[in-house]
Amino acid sequence: MATLAEKIIRNHLVTGEMKAGNEIGIRIDQTLTQDSTGTMAYLQFEAMGIDRVRTKKSVAYIDHNMLQSGPENADDHLFIQTVAKKHGIYYSKPGNGICHQVHLERFSVPGDTLLGSDSHTPTCGGMGMIAMGAGGLDVAVAMAGGEYRLVMPEIVNVELKGKLNKFSSAKDIILEVLKNFTVKGGVNKIFEYTGEGVKSLSVPERGTITNMGAELGATTSLFPSDERTLEFLKAQGRENDFAELKADDDAVYSEKITIDLSLLKPNVALPHSPDAVVPVSQVRGTAITQVAIGSCTNSSYTDMMKVANILDGNTVHENVSLVISPGSKQVLAMLAANGALSKIIASGARILEIGCGPCIGMGQAPGNNGVSLRTFNRNFQGRCGTDSAGVYLVSPEVAAFSAIKGFIAGEEDFDENVDLDIDIPEKFMVNDNMIISPADDGRDVKVVRGPNIKTFPKNCKLADHTGCVVPVLIKVKDDVTTDAIMPSNAHLLPFRSNIPYLSEFCFMQIDKDFPKNAKKNGGGIIVAGKNYGQGSSREHAALVPLYLGVRAVFSKSFARIHKSNLVNNGIIPLTFKYEADYDDIEKMDEMEIPNLLKQIEKTTIIVENKTKNKQYEMELKLSGRQIEIIKSGGLLNYMSLKNV
Ligand code: F3S
Repeated sequence: MATLAEKIIRNHLVTGEMKAGNEIGIRIDQTLTQDSTGTMAYLQFEAMGIDRVRTKKSVAYIDHNMLQSGPENADDHLFIQTVAKKHGIYYSKPGNGICHQVHLERFSVPGDTLLGSDSHTPTCGGMGMIAMGAGGLDVAVAMAGGEYRLVMPEIVNVELKGKLNKFSSAKDIILEVLKNFTVKGGVNKIFEYTGEGVKSLSVPERGTITNMGAELGATTSLFPSDERTLEFLKAQGRENDFAELKADDDAVYSEKITIDLSLLKPNVALPHSPDAVVPVSQVRGTAITQVAIGSCTNSSYTDMMKVANILDGNTVHENVSLVISPGSKQVLAMLAANGALSKIIASGARILEIGCGPCIGMGQAPGNNGVSLRTFNRNFQGRCGTDSAGVYLVSPEVAAFSAIKGFIAGEEDFDENVDLDIDIPEKFMVNDNMIISPADDGRDVKVVRGPNIKTFPKNCKLADHTGCVVPVLIKVKDDVTTDAIMPSNAHLLPFRSNIPYLSEFCFMQIDKDFPKNAKKNGGGIIVAGKNYGQGSSREHAALVPLYLGVRAVFSKSFARIHKSNLVNNGIIPLTFKYEADYDDIEKMDEMEIPNLLKQIEKTTIIVENKTKNKQYEMELKLSGRQIEIIKSGGLLNYMSLKNV
């Protein structure tokens, strides 16, 4: 009576009991990094002093920072390329594709575990893998052969019935799930898809759904491995990687929702949250200035072919800039070979380099007050590079029809005659010449470090912290994203391996004086509302506050990955026992955790507000191992103390 998630976890279980809410440790088969988190992950891996990765397969992708408007990006790429060659890691060159798209195509294996330093790593759940996003340090530990610790999630069943209509797509399914569960609704949950509707979805369509499961805050999402999986692997020339996997018929789930695909209409997520979902019909006619098609959510061969067919013989509206970035070299090469690319170009679309591009704010910022329609997975304010712009998230079909019309298109605007019945090809064009294999013996490989590669901050042991009374440096509201903590715009992305420089921009959208204030006070506390640190696996949202002396975060609740990133860096994540206490605290209140070394062993911790002369009860919801990590001053210190 096991779910598929339970079966895969059981096969990889190293520590703990598989009971929802318990901490467990699992063995990781594969890892992936992308360049913006990868530099730090490899610096941390090097700090462990291990010659060669101990995973079955580890891959380093370059897909985020490719503008090269200064020397920093190229220097970072060379560091990653050489460190990969030396330590047994495959290196996917810039231009080969977005990490999740390429991993799904070329490396994913049903039944394996995958840990990636990118929050959309769950994309490979579409292949029947337990694929999770984590901080770079967790990935470095997994590369070193260490287990990955997580809270055993509850398993939610999403049953899919029926078949999608012509103009509805996989994107509309996941937007529907987001509407139901919201961006907070997936924390410590795995979303497992079952039902007859699953068979109607190809692996890339499943990947769209599992990709955006990250927006639910879920640990991961998962599809069975079935004949559609075999079909995809065969078309990639990898049928030997296939294994049939599914949940038992009598599997027990903690929760269940059913979606009838035949009733699903095209959906849209309104600015500025991926769960602000309404049917497209509600905003039909909204004038748009930009359409962007691509990202790790919607850049597969089938997505692009549908777009090409819609654009075929049409012209992009005069008021719209349509930008398209295919997800991988494989996809672009196939579009070029079958003539679809020329249809796209002829329509007036702008073809961007293969990569994350506008999704991570690397170019294509909309104009002031612009309205951008995107097939991406996130639409937080400012992420696109323009604070006043509104970003709407839709399927590639809605995006392409809208680009022609000049407004958000509804069903009455769709062309019934367009062929959208496109499945994966019998054979993908396979040419892995942009994936560089590691050296058989890396001992002679020299790692090249440009001046942008700086060392990273390390915490000291809890016992060595002096000065117990510290001020509240900032007080933020609910749903603060890692983007808001450590922004990631085109200017800052090249400096991901340069924490001192980045620190000058910490919390810049909320309080531009935060870095100065933190330095002046020798550090302090962050006070936050619910779901603090949602949105991405960005370890820099913990590393930079650590550099600025942040000791603890008091919040109503935390996003999963960010909470472990805080722990991994020795920053104490405390949750208000009574949420009303949040209202009581003001910026610059002086706080103390008396007898910290004793209190840290307890689940309820008393915090004193010296300014207001009050006490608050806070909860420390951590495992025994996480407490030890905090006491050691972070995971790297913990590992060297334990000699693991
Ligand atoms: Fe890249 Fe955007 Fe995905 S930054 S990895 S395309 S979420």
